Parts: sequence; C-alpha cells; structure tokens
Amino acid sequence: MTNKLQVLFSSSWGIRWSFQSLVGLLVAVLVIGAIYLTGESKQLLEEEDEMKHQINNGSSSISQCDLFSGKWVFDNESHPLYKEKDCSFMSDQLACQKYGREDLRYQSWRWQPHRCDLPRFNATALLERLRNKRLVFVGDSLNRNQWVSMVCLVETSILDPMLKSMHTNGSLITFKASEYNASVEFYWAPLLVESNSDDPVMHRLPDRIVRTQAIEKHARHWTDADILVFNSYLWWRRPMMKILWGSFESSDGVYREVEMLRSYEMALKTWSDWLEIHVDRNKTQLFFVSMSPTHERGEEWGRDVDQNCYNETEPISQVGYWGNESDSKMMQIVETTINSLNERDLKVQMLNITQLAKYRKEGHPSIYRKQWDPLTEEQLARPESYADCIHWCLPGVPDVWNEILYAYILQYDDNIKGKMEI
Ligand SMILES: *[C@@H]1O[C@H](CO)[C@@H](O)[C@H](O)[C@H]1NC(C)=O
Ligand SMILES: *[C@@H]1O[C@H](CO)[C@@H](O)[C@H](O)[C@H]1NC(C)=O
Ligand SMILES: *[C@@H]1O[C@H](CO)[C@@H](O)[C@H](O)[C@H]1NC(C)=O
Ligand SMILES: *[C@@H]1O[C@H](CO)[C@@H](O)[C@H](O)[C@H]1NC(C)=O
Ligand SMILES: *[C@@H]1O[C@H](CO)[C@@H](O)[C@H](O)[C@H]1NC(C)=O
Ligand SMILES: *[C@@H]1O[C@H](CO)[C@@H](O)[C@H](O)[C@H]1NC(C)=O
Ligand SMILES: *[C@@H]1O[C@H](CO)[C@@H](O)[C@H](O)[C@H]1NC(C)=O
Ligand SMILES: *[C@@H]1O[C@H](CO)[C@@H](O)[C@H](O)[C@H]1NC(C)=O
Ligand SMILES: *[C@@H]1O[C@H](CO)[C@@H](O)[C@H](O)[C@H]1NC(C)=O
Repeated sequence: MTNKLQVLFSSSWGIRWSFQSLVGLLVAVLVIGAIYLTGESKQLLEEEDEMKHQINNGSSSISQCDLFSGKWVFDNESHPLYKEKDCSFMSDQLACQKYGREDLRYQSWRWQPHRCDLPRFNATALLERLRNKRLVFVGDSLNRNQWVSMVCLVETSILDPMLKSMHTNGSLITFKASEYNASVEFYWAPLLVESNSDDPVMHRLPDRIVRTQAIEKHARHWTDADILVFNSYLWWRRPMMKILWGSFESSDGVYREVEMLRSYEMALKTWSDWLEIHVDRNKTQLFFVSMSPTHERGEEWGRDVDQNCYNETEPISQVGYWGNESDSKMMQIVETTINSLNERDLKVQMLNITQLAKYRKEGHPSIYRKQWDPLTEEQLARPESYADCIHWCLPGVPDVWNEILYAYILQYDDNIKGKMEI
C-alpha cells in the first residue's frame, strides 16, 4: 500500500497537485483501497499502470525529469493554448496571423519532454497562486515576448474586461487581474545593469555604454516581487562593450572598452550580488531564461547564404541541433553565476530553452509583423532583408517556455506544502 502511494506521489503531478491537505491524502488512501477491494475502476488501474511504467523508465516527477530535453510534437488539439485575436494585449510585433501569415502550423506544436509530461496550463490555478502577488519579467524584448505570452495565457481566461487592466509607468508595464489582485509585469532592462539603452522606447543607439557595477536604479522596482524571471543576451552580442565607471550624469566618468564576455560576467556578478543581499529566500522564486536563439543565417541549416527564417514553415528535425549563432560561452557564464548563488543558498532555476527553441526556425514573425518604418523598394524586392528572425510569433514558442515556467511555479507551491506537512 505504502509503495503504491509513493508511486502516485512521485509520478503524477496531476494527482500530486490536487492534494491540498492531509484530508486529501486520507481520501486518496481510501479511494485506492476501494479500487483494490472492488477492482471496479478499470480506467484508474490503467492510469496507475502507466505511472508504474513511467517509473520503471526513470522517474517522471518534475524534479527528476529534464524538462528541456525532449521533442516537438505537432498537436493541433492541445495547441494553441489561446487564439491570437482573443488576446486583448497582443503586440503588433508578434501578431503574425493578423499581419498576413497564412501557414499556421507554427501555433500547434507541443513540447514533449523525454521522461515526463508537462502539466496542462491552468490559468485559474496560476492566478490562485499569484493572488496578492507580483510575477515580474525583467530583461529585453525577448523577455517581453515571453511576458506578452504569459499575459495572453492568463487573460484569455478572464472574460470580464472590467477585471483586467494594463498600465505603463516608465520602464514597468503591469497587467493586473483585479479579482485576484495578481500582477504579471514586465520591466525593461535589456542589459540587466544600467546602460544607455534603458529608455523603454528610445533605446536604439549606435554606441552602447554599460555601467556594469550599477543595478539599483532598476532593481528597486522589483525588490518585493514574489517571482522574478530574468534574461539578458541579445544586447550583448558584439565583440566589445564600452563600460562606464561613474554615472551618466557626471562629467568625470571613466570609459573603457572591455571584451564582451568579461563585461557580461561583470554585469551578472553585480546582478547576483544584488540578489544575494536583497532577495527574501523564504518568499521569492527566481528564474533565468537562457539565450533565445535566432535564425538569421540559413546556411546554418543548409539553405543558401542569403536565406534566413523567411519562408520557413517547419521546425528543424535534426536531434540535438544547435547551429552556431548561439554563444555557449555566454550560457556557461550564466550557469557559473547561478551555481555560485546556489552555493550561497539562493536558488535560481535556469529555464534552459535555447536548444528547444533552436529547432523552431519557422516560429519567428519573419515579415508578418507591424513595420515601424515604411519599407523601401529594395526591401520589398527581397523580403529576407527585413524579416524578423529574432522574436517569436504568438501563439507560439514562448507559450511553451511559460508552460515550463508554470510547472516550476506550481511545483514550488507543492514543495512548500511538503515542508509544512513534515
Ligand atoms: C519506456 O521504456 C519502454 C522500453 O524501454 C519504451 O518502449 C517506452 O516508450 C518508454 N516510455 C516512456 C514514457 O518513456
Ligand atoms: C489538425 O491538423 C490536421 C492535419 O493537418 C487537420 O486535418 C485537422 O483538421 C486539424 N484540426 C484542427 C482542429 O485544426
Ligand atoms: C484549474 O484550476 C482550478 C483551480 O485550482 C481548478 O478548480 C480547475 O478544476 C482546474 N481546471 C482544470 C481543467 O484542471
Ligand atoms: C495586492 O497585491 C500587492 C502586491 O502586488 C500587495 O502588496 C497588496 O498587499 C495586495 N493587497 C491586498 C489587499 O492584499
Ligand atoms: C510610477 O512609478 C514611480 C516610481 O516607482 C512611482 O513613484 C509612481 O507613483 C508611479 N506612478 C503611477 C501612476 O503608478
Ligand atoms: C525563513 O524561514 C525560516 C524557517 O521558517 C526562518 O527561521 C527564517 O527566519 C526566515 N527568514 C526570513 C528572512 O524571513
Ligand atoms: C556557421 O556555420 C556555417 C555553416 O556551417 C559556416 O559557413 C559559418 O562560417 C559558421 N559561422 C561561424 C561564425 O562560425
Ligand atoms: C518559399 O517557399 C516556397 C515553397 O517551399 C517556394 O516555392 C518559394 O520559391 C520560396 N520563396 C523564396 C523567396 O524562397
Ligand atoms: C542547458 O542545455 C544545454 C543543451 O541544450 C546543456 O548543454 C546545458 O548543460 C544545460 N544547462 C543547464 C544548466 O541545464
């Protein structure tokens, strides 16, 4: 009996998550007992067999399953998780269908980890978890892409427009579900630390300057967040960075060109030191999203040199495909930084989405998005030249990142409960 129960507990999240209390546990014991006594519920027994089978293949519990190792499965019954036109706060940068994309298969791929299943995304369960709380995404436009996805995933479940709102204040955009007093926010800080690209609108400057020692100006906006999701990658993709010691306002600052990897390391050190001192370990859950891969060079996957994600309609099927646009050295710096925080008793979960998204060369807006500047004749003649192969269409790839994030957020709840029961 005990064994069976353990199987149920460690193998099926669905069941694990519904156990709210010891009462639930007792009911389960009784139910399982009843099944064994009567042998009536064939379906339940089959489910249990499946769980045992999964256990025999290794464990299917999320803590022991690598959610980032898996494959894409075309599944237009379970995906997309919402319709593009139903999302009230969709961005014109990401609304590919609205901007004329006709092949819509990119919306219907499900991520299947090798050793377990992702739990089904349940907006109500997430909102319950976020009651009186703040979930804050901090980073660049890719993180904003993921934030818009999360807002769509959550807000399409709230039918009454009076119960949801969006509010912008400087670099912070807040979606609020008022019935739950729950916030899902995005804070623009593309390099995490201070830089001359911190303006949420006017940030495209030819010369990039970073204050790698300074993060407080940003961080004070999310000090009390309950869940923080960081990223920072694309804005670093250049060989050298100009670092400023001193402030932007004063005239006696010292500028020095520093190799990019070294600069990135310095910025992440500032970021992690800030977390170590300011984060309430009992309250805050931390995530770092790994590099979002780009598909700007078709030669990477066997197209001509001048091709890119434009005109692609199917994912890459080659197992383990990595290409050479994503800088593993930057990923290693993130890993080292996070590991060192873990050693200091501060857990940061990496959302290791680089590989899984790298398969999705067809998931980008390409030419199907709002163009801020009118297109020239030359551009129109060669659509590849203005295709966006960096961001992701919604619904699409970032929804899956959020399904994974959801898994971790709700598992955390479960762990807390576990602690309280012991
Ligand atoms: C478990 O392993 C068996 C045999 O090795 C395999 O046929 C089956 O597909 C695996 N199931 C899962 C869920 O991985
Ligand atoms: C799912 O895709 C299949 C094959 O492309 C198609 O026949 C079917 O109509 C689609 N179903 C939905 C609900 O879109
Ligand atoms: C979603 O979560 C809510 C709250 O936990 C629960 O009442 C509901 O049954 C769940 N829905 C599904 C389809 O699992
Ligand atoms: C509403 O949520 C905020 C966090 O976003 C929290 O500080 C505040 O106390 C909550 N209000 C109530 C009435 O619980
Ligand atoms: C905007 O943010 C600033 C700084 O956090 C704050 O002082 C101010 O009250 C906010 N304004 C609104 C309208 O929320
Ligand atoms: C965190 O929780 C532990 C155990 O419940 C408690 O001893 C500790 O004081 C708490 N720390 C903070 C910063 O609240
Ligand atoms: C990336 O791979 C392509 C094709 O294999 C190759 O032509 C190109 O030089 C590589 N680029 C870099 C920066 O390594
Ligand atoms: C786009 O793809 C279609 C079908 O694969 C092909 O016929 C067409 O030539 C492609 N166009 C360009 C510009 O590559
Ligand atoms: C992330 O995934 C890559 C392969 O996609 C792997 O090499 C790396 O070790 C993983 N990192 C972590 C922290 O899981």
